[in-house]
Amino acid sequence: MENFIRIEDLTRAEMLRFFELARDMEIMREMGSDLCKGRILGAMFYEPSTRTRLSFESAMFRLGGNVLGFADPNSTSFAKKETLADTIHMLCNYADVLVIRHFWAGAARLAALHSTVPVINAGDNANQHPTQTLTDLYTLWKARENLSGMTVGVCGDLRFGRAAHSLVYGLAAFDVNIVLIAPEGLELPEEEMWRLDQQYGAKVSRARHPGHVIEDLDALYVNRLQKERLPDDLDAEEIQRIASQYRIDAALIARAKPTCLALHPLPRVDELARELDDDPRAVYFEQSSNGVPVRMALLALALGRAPSNPFEPKKTEAQTHAAPVCRSKTCVSAHEPDVPALTETVGLATLRRVCHFCGRFV
Ligand code: NCD
Repeated sequence: MENFIRIEDLTRAEMLRFFELARDMEIMREMGSDLCKGRILGAMFYEPSTRTRLSFESAMFRLGGNVLGFADPNSTSFAKKETLADTIHMLCNYADVLVIRHFWAGAARLAALHSTVPVINAGDNANQHPTQTLTDLYTLWKARENLSGMTVGVCGDLRFGRAAHSLVYGLAAFDVNIVLIAPEGLELPEEEMWRLDQQYGAKVSRARHPGHVIEDLDALYVNRLQKERLPDDLDAEEIQRIASQYRIDAALIARAKPTCLALHPLPRVDELARELDDDPRAVYFEQSSNGVPVRMALLALALGRAPSNPFEPKKTEAQTHAAPVCRSKTCVSAHEPDVPALTETVGLATLRRVCHFCGRFV
């Protein structure tokens, strides 16, 4: 594996082979392993994280490797205005694989451009969170084996939730019936909607409230309101009021199928009632635990130490433009100097151009 930046780069067959590898890692997690002995993970966390950072660190320790990094960018030369490109040039002298979480969309893609070691995206603003998606799909696969034909509700803040943005592509790759359940103003962005339709031919329906569809679902994936990403022109109080109507509680889950799984990338705030924790269908803590074998598999692959390679070589055709073309304010190209103006073509019958970094239409 070279870099792992976004979930669309993986096919269903690759993900299925990857799940087998992750399952093998569960044994190494218990027994201990020297698979990545002598190797160093650089964990670069520019945004808050509990599960993602610590499960990556745990994964590296379980594989016999070492970890360095930071969880607060203000303790690094970022506070002295060092560019991301320069920081990456340094870090790849100190580590053999980099895991980066950043508050600019496309930062992991840019990091990969400058890095001489593999880069793994641990979440870039509201763009993607592909290692979370592998964890989510692995959780469903372990429970159900065959994801195809399942009906999965993806509920909550679908506009700013990066976990949801990568999840929908992952579900589409498995021919899952996707039910998007979002309050007004927090719907899935047009790029994701368009690509689900044009690139995946996905079966997508929409609902305004989980109560309208709960009986139909084989799994319900809940997302919190991403308060920290609400733009200034949105009325945060009004959005919070609307989002609070999306609380998933025991009364709602009582109406669900006896086999309907409840997932959440965590952290939860108040969208998921604690009374659900003891329900065997609530698998969100197991899901966060699954992040360890999934990230063990990703690190072993990135370091060329995995016993098998589920992934085919990747080729991304990006087109260079003379002047910047991305208009997104959260894109790395709007903040970092000298980012090359790159776009990519997406779609099948109809084609559109998107920013190579943040994936938004240009
Ligand atoms: C998610 C994230 O950071 O995007 N958390 C995680 O990594 N498990 C979801 C969230 O913060 O809402």
